[in-house]
Amino acid sequence: MAKEAAFSCNACGAVYSKWSGRCDACGEWNTITEDVPLSTGPGKAALGARRGAAVRLSALSGTEAPVRRAGSGLGELDRVLGGGLVPGSAVLVGGDPGIGKSTLLLQAAARFGAAGLKVAYISGEEATAQVRMRAARLGLAEAPVMLAAETNLRNILTTLEAEAPGLVVIDSVQTMWLDTVESAPGSVSQVRAAAHELVRFAKSRGAAVILVGHVTKEGQIAGPRVVEHMVDTVLYFEGERGHQFRILRAVKNRFGPADEIGVFEMTGDGLTEVQNPSALFLGDRERPAPGTVVFAGIEGTRPLLSEFQALVSPAPAGQARRSVVGWDGGRLAMILAVLEARCGIPFAGLDVYLNVAGGLRIAEPAADLAVAAALLSAREDIALPSGTVIFGEISLSGALRPVGQTETRLKEAEKLGFKAAFVPERSKTGDSGVGVRELPDLAGLVGDMFGAG
Ligand code: TYD
Ligand code: MG
Repeated sequence: MAKEAAFSCNACGAVYSKWSGRCDACGEWNTITEDVPLSTGPGKAALGARRGAAVRLSALSGTEAPVRRAGSGLGELDRVLGGGLVPGSAVLVGGDPGIGKSTLLLQAAARFGAAGLKVAYISGEEATAQVRMRAARLGLAEAPVMLAAETNLRNILTTLEAEAPGLVVIDSVQTMWLDTVESAPGSVSQVRAAAHELVRFAKSRGAAVILVGHVTKEGQIAGPRVVEHMVDTVLYFEGERGHQFRILRAVKNRFGPADEIGVFEMTGDGLTEVQNPSALFLGDRERPAPGTVVFAGIEGTRPLLSEFQALVSPAPAGQARRSVVGWDGGRLAMILAVLEARCGIPFAGLDVYLNVAGGLRIAEPAADLAVAAALLSAREDIALPSGTVIFGEISLSGALRPVGQTETRLKEAEKLGFKAAFVPERSKTGDSGVGVRELPDLAGLVGDMFGAG
């Protein structure tokens, strides 16, 4: 039988059946190497003959002690982790360079240390002096955290095995390298091998390991998601340049809900938790302006109010522009089409800009109705009544569908002083102090907002 060879690119992870000098996927030269599968070599054919040891199977119904989690006391971080760090788990924290990952993890390390966990912070990017300076700036100079500046993973693992910390922070996984892997630090093979060793350390020693990963231009943790599937929890630290808000978002979590977010603010003294993110994302609205609508959303397990802003203006000759920040462009196109087809309100020949204030990214279909209202309000230059929130999903027929957790959304709106809400018919509104206006369809919204439309 011919040996099946597989080759992969060390830069981007693309897989090939034969070697070539240049990777078609990323365009890099001399990055393709042969993957040596673990099952090749002398023992391979013997799998049928040589039998493995029997594995003990147990009943699903067995009892297991509940996972004990370590809390940092940073409520926003603990919640995103699903209630604290699970011993023996591996967490990846990804984000753009400069977004504040090292700051967050140094602060978290100090908190975990103060809470009694033995913490090792390994920096592959900064010298210990730099980390100390940052700690001093954050007021954490005396925090019980052990520090090392090292990139050689063999040395790091030897040290960790001797010191047996309860939490290891690796900043960043891209700087780590193993002498058994031939490619350069930062390459896919190195990152994959380093993450593999560190995850194995976490599992075998019951220590929690947090890996920092820089996101590449394409928005993936280098290389293409090679680390994400190895770890238990993937968190992204996001934010817009020029904004102080930072959002820690769980995109995968074996020990808690995904899609949970934690909100922080970057200040001169490091990151501070934002306890009431709705108030933050609404900013200081005085009067509603045409084109702005407050959406009562749910992020993870928490209600969050945010503001959609739309601008509609005559397009100069040629293609009308559709520009979206913080919301899905395809979904915007759909809502424009439904407004035109079901309500007779055309947007042809008009530029449409849609933005979520504060650099927030919203993915819920529940925002459909808020987007439609913002578009209508901008197009007609009529502001919505003040103190109003909106949410609901729009179907292609123009009908409105109730969305989950209506009561939670309304309660949050009430808490922030909102008096009225537009929601789809048949929503389970419960009892809140917000006056609810139930709408059967999109035409109903148009009628409500602009008299007869
Ligand atoms: P950093 O944590 O180094 O980012 P990353 O590790 O994701 O690359 O944060 C870098 C930015 O944060 C830097 O531009 C300065 C800013 N910063 C503050 O605004 N306040 C602070 O207290 C600290 C430590 C950093
Ligand atoms: Mg850093």
